[in-house]
Amino acid sequence: IKATMIVDKDFKIGEVDKRIYGSFVEHLGRAVYGGIYEKDHSTADPQGFRGDVLELVKGLDVPIVRYPGGNFVSGYNWEDGVGPVEQRPSRLELAWRTIEPNWVGLNEFMDWCKKANTEAMMAVNLGTRGPAEARDLIEYANHPSGTLFSDLRRKHGYEQPHAIKTWCLGNEMDGPWQIGAKTAVEYGRIANETAKVMRWVDPTIELVACGSSSLHMPSFPEWEATVLDLTYDNVDFISLHQYYGNPSNDSANFLALSLGMDSFINTVISTADYVQAKKRSKKKINLSFDEWNVWFHSNEADRKLDPWQIAPPQLEDIYNHEDALVVGCMLISLLKRADRVKMACIAQLVNVIAPIMTANGGAAWKQTIYYPYMHASLFGRGTALVPLIQSPKYDAKDYTDVPYLESVAVHNEEKGEVTIFAVNRNLEESLGLEVDLRSFGGCTLIEHIVLENDDLKAANTLEAPDRVKPHTNGNARVDGSKIEASLSKASWNVVRVK
Ligand code: AHR
Repeated sequence: IKATMIVDKDFKIGEVDKRIYGSFVEHLGRAVYGGIYEKDHSTADPQGFRGDVLELVKGLDVPIVRYPGGNFVSGYNWEDGVGPVEQRPSRLELAWRTIEPNWVGLNEFMDWCKKANTEAMMAVNLGTRGPAEARDLIEYANHPSGTLFSDLRRKHGYEQPHAIKTWCLGNEMDGPWQIGAKTAVEYGRIANETAKVMRWVDPTIELVACGSSSLHMPSFPEWEATVLDLTYDNVDFISLHQYYGNPSNDSANFLALSLGMDSFINTVISTADYVQAKKRSKKKINLSFDEWNVWFHSNEADRKLDPWQIAPPQLEDIYNHEDALVVGCMLISLLKRADRVKMACIAQLVNVIAPIMTANGGAAWKQTIYYPYMHASLFGRGTALVPLIQSPKYDAKDYTDVPYLESVAVHNEEKGEVTIFAVNRNLEESLGLEVDLRSFGGCTLIEHIVLENDDLKAANTLEAPDRVKPHTNGNARVDGSKIEASLSKASWNVVRVK
């Protein structure tokens, strides 16, 4: 069986904002303590940041990292995390029922961002708190000097402001599990008033309003319409969150779930544009898909954990080969709407539903999902091109007419390269692929990277960290402006030409 694809440099979706390759570090489980930070680790730097983890993060070239939550932020007092560490309080952390020792806070995280060559996407607490505390926080973080909070930052050893540009107005405020959950009207009003004061402190910031916490929330997409109606002029982005899983072990269906992500994105764009029309506004609201991933493997283990521990192993999904394929499909979904999805964060970065795993006091390694995320981040920068695809299809439990080929192309004009990202969803057979690169003239192959495995459930572990990893022996051949390849069953492919 065979699929075809036409890619033309003039059929543009839009510029890829590099921030769609963002990630997320929450004060949750071992994401911070035992993840980015472990002061007694053999690779720890003088601040306690793990060097081995930093190296793996740098390998992903992560442009932005959301912090400090997540559900955590809705009960967080940012003041607990600044100033001398020995004077910081330990707190009951109600979102995840742990003890938060506050060994790492805003200033340390900003130092870590510098070391990781990334920037922060900071969230403010709109669960237990409101505009006043958000104003104080941004004054502390971004105001140069001469005021209570900016001078407090200087007293804490940070003379220069952190100049944090991107801010989230709370987290998943539609979810009953959220500390201080709100109705759309309650949230829209407080988000708007918070946005105003934050912008008055620093007019250069960009603000993200909370959209629905998943596509399956009963209030979606009414929530988006109401929230944007109440915040339109004062925010820049609306957020989307979505996780997928395969609890019933139906892999064909699991691989089809990114079709839901496509329609989620399209519906949020339509809703934002509906509010734009209603307001007769010139302004477009873009999308921040600031939590996405596969999440289900750890659910059972998490239910058995005792509460009130410091950094217990929460949400530690061990990812397998099929999870990496779904992550690949999700990355392609983001690229297919690169015109409006301008930020996105794989959730999360280390240990907690993450591409990077660590052992406390031991090694750090790459999960299967590290690879598609890394390939997209490294090779998916430039202009996303419309994928005109003809593909054989199949029917799955939740979706009919699921194309075996999921694909998109990115043109990096600066480097003169085109990269095709492609997943073959067929679990039994390879898929022939013919790409017509028409307007690109004579091309040559740089490499064809393949992530394949006979065992869909194969995973990387501390003992076998390289069981699933890509190779560059893909069979793509380039003849002039045509690429021909055979995509192995259940595979993730990166075909790079110039
Ligand atoms: O990423 C894990 C959790 O998932 C986040 O804290 C929350 O926002 C979402 O429900």
